[in-house]
Amino acid sequence: MSNKMWGGRFASGPDAIMEEINASIDFDKTLWRQDIAGSRAHVAMLAKQEIVTAADAKAIDGGLAAVHDEIEAGRFTFSRSLEDIHMNVESRLAELIGPAAGRLHTARSRNDQVATDMRLWVRDTVDQLDEQIGDLQQALAEKALAFAGAVMPGFTHLQSAQPTTFGHHLLAYVEMLGRDRSRLRDARRRMNECPLGAAALCGTSFPIDRHATAAALGFDRPTANSLDSVSDRDFALESLAAASICAMHLSRFAEEIVIWTTPQFGFVRLSDRFSTGSSIMPQKRNPDAAELVRGKAGRVIGALNGLLIVMKGLPLSYAKDMQEDKEGTFDALRTLSLCLAAMAGMVRDMEPDTKAMKKAAGVGYATATDLADWLVRTLKMPFRDAHHVTGRIVGVASGRGVGLEKLTLADMQSVEPRITPDVFAVLGVEKSVRSRTSYGGTAPEQVRRQARRWLKTLARATR
Ligand code: ARG
Repeated sequence: MSNKMWGGRFASGPDAIMEEINASIDFDKTLWRQDIAGSRAHVAMLAKQEIVTAADAKAIDGGLAAVHDEIEAGRFTFSRSLEDIHMNVESRLAELIGPAAGRLHTARSRNDQVATDMRLWVRDTVDQLDEQIGDLQQALAEKALAFAGAVMPGFTHLQSAQPTTFGHHLLAYVEMLGRDRSRLRDARRRMNECPLGAAALCGTSFPIDRHATAAALGFDRPTANSLDSVSDRDFALESLAAASICAMHLSRFAEEIVIWTTPQFGFVRLSDRFSTGSSIMPQKRNPDAAELVRGKAGRVIGALNGLLIVMKGLPLSYAKDMQEDKEGTFDALRTLSLCLAAMAGMVRDMEPDTKAMKKAAGVGYATATDLADWLVRTLKMPFRDAHHVTGRIVGVASGRGVGLEKLTLADMQSVEPRITPDVFAVLGVEKSVRSRTSYGGTAPEQVRRQARRWLKTLARATR
């Protein structure tokens, strides 16, 4: 049997393999709400423009509402032979209301239909992600305020660099996530134009009102070029790019959690709710949730790459290759949503071991920069000379196998005779941290100020 939607010139139905490669219903049924909403907006416009009669439009709208309820209630049978969500819905509509259903597809094509459905789905999902990122920021900013004064080692090259605080470290992620939200909102702004009415590729000869359907579906305006409308997947690419960057941020944080929770570091303890045990090693507490967030970033970034590769060789306008936009986009954005939820849970439960962090903060001559700064400030040395002198003092300490604060004044003076006893005041990690009061610096008072600023901004955003 040939396809009843487009089989007019076909004598037989598709080969089984053709159906297998062609059908998208297994994954594009995700779009059922958007598809029905788009059709209802379209038919209302057709009636208003007197392209279909009010009676037909009413029957179609009622039928679409019934299909909506069937799908929502799980009573709908999706059929592979009907290819995709558009034809599954339309075919059921015909069963329910008869021949009037055939008028719904006037002045549109599956090409503008699927472009509209996808924009609606991505737009809704991006809005949800924005909210979830805000929730993770909230969890981080609260922790940051609570631990604004908790000293921990700051690293560069994962080598001891300077003492910092746990609060300062967490706020770095709040900043990154703020940029992620701004990228998603930016993508949303460009995405929010309606392709419906572009029809197959060239528009239509029917007197449609594209502004009306755009407004009914919550778009800012209709798209301006019909060819572009059905060819474009930038909105998915931009959202995937923003999602990939966000997933990369979560992955870096996850990596730090993995490092911090090792017994060797022991900086934080994850709750039982976000840890797992080993089936053979009874002592283990594995940070599986963090590892999975790190791992899943690969899927998100992969989806962006996959779609870029699908799109890069396509001539205008629509080509069936574009059906491949769906699984990756759905999976990537859902995956990011799951990772955000897992991260927010981990952060809320996370208990830093402030003693262990403080002890580690002094390891590796982390206050060497403070010593160099003291030489500059007190002895008026040029920084480069101070750097050199400090390096030699670190050498002495290293030879003795002790930290800088354990050297005697005589040890110091053997390198630079003008050093006085008050140098010891800057060698402690607390002092070091408290001295970094520059805007955006690690001093607890600065961290508190930034955490409060974020909490205020986040509270305002949720109204
Ligand atoms: N299932 C198709 C897709 O997702 C819908 C558009 C089909 N258009 C076409 N001309 N065959 O891309």
